[in-house]
Amino acid sequence: MICEKLKKDEIVNILSSDDKVLLKELKDKAYSVKKELLGQNIYLRGIIEYSNVCSKNCYYCGLRKDNLNFKRYILDDDLVLDLAKLSHDKNLGSILIQSGELKSKEFTNKIYNLLKKINKITNEKLHVVLSCGEQSEDTFKKWFDAGAKRYLLRIETSDENLYKKIHPNDKTHSFKERIKSIEILKKLNYQTGSGILIGFPGETESDIAKDLLFLKNLDLDMVGMGPYVEHDMTPLFNEKNKFSRAKRFNLAIKAISILRIMMPDINIASSTALDVFNPNGRFLALEHGANVIMPNLTPLKFKEKYFLYDGKPGVDTMLDDYLKILEDKVSLMGEKICYKEHGTSLHFKKRIREC
Ligand code: 5AD
Ligand code: SF4
Repeated sequence: MICEKLKKDEIVNILSSDDKVLLKELKDKAYSVKKELLGQNIYLRGIIEYSNVCSKNCYYCGLRKDNLNFKRYILDDDLVLDLAKLSHDKNLGSILIQSGELKSKEFTNKIYNLLKKINKITNEKLHVVLSCGEQSEDTFKKWFDAGAKRYLLRIETSDENLYKKIHPNDKTHSFKERIKSIEILKKLNYQTGSGILIGFPGETESDIAKDLLFLKNLDLDMVGMGPYVEHDMTPLFNEKNKFSRAKRFNLAIKAISILRIMMPDINIASSTALDVFNPNGRFLALEHGANVIMPNLTPLKFKEKYFLYDGKPGVDTMLDDYLKILEDKVSLMGEKICYKEHGTSLHFKKRIREC
């Protein structure tokens, strides 16, 4: 019987299994946990890929500083404001401003001003989620005060040694600092999200099981996790991988179900990377326990430059078309898209009440 208090060995067993009966039980359990506690509701988060400029050099990511093979951009403020307005007009409820990691005053001020302006033009109705990397406590606080109430910072892996294998071993890429940032976000009362990269070279099922228990331990409000997708302009590209692409996809879907069972009241986003391996990937994740989906709002000419990994999907799908497809698919599952709703994580609501 798969239950909330899954132990590491049980998780490894599920992650390694091809047993159709077990996997059906996993999917059914995850979906019923989600349905019972959170209803048949799917929340929307419009993604704005604000900038592909990054000061870091993660070995798996196409946006890494040393990749000189593409043009970098930072979106104009006016464009971001137009996209925020569009999201508000289309009743998306929330947007995610995602960016490479920059710590300069210029960058942190730009985000601060954008937050202020977005809140103003949408009467504070549109919730803004930030995913702009590690920042100082002061910056996190400043952004919170300017209206960002949610933050996503993936840990990528909970194993410090593995972390060192997929990042340069220096002060800028410190595992301990990353954890510290997540703790600060929680302390500042951000709705806090993290997540992992699933199936990168050097990783095993046992590592992923440890990650899932780690995410539970962090007592997060939101999680976004997806399969590792190789990018040919990154150092990790030529590393031998234990997992085929199909295996990585299946691991990610299983991980979503397992986490839903372990953390019933959090928000789990269906990550974009799932669509690289299966055109139906993000919808499958919804059937397996995810409850948030993130349409991409970035205009085509910039979207094409935001290549974290090869074969990124959806670069030519317009928002309206995407929403229509989404509505049709979601209604086939008996679910509904919650327009106009922020989709605040139930776990967060409880956590804040308890403080
Ligand atoms: N495959 C999948 N996800 C990736 N990311 C970066 N590179 C890759 C990749 N090669 C994800 C990381 C990061 C987010 C911005 O994109 O998890 O947190
Ligand atoms: Fe930069 Fe994030 Fe990519 Fe690392 S994963 S190189 S911090 S964009």
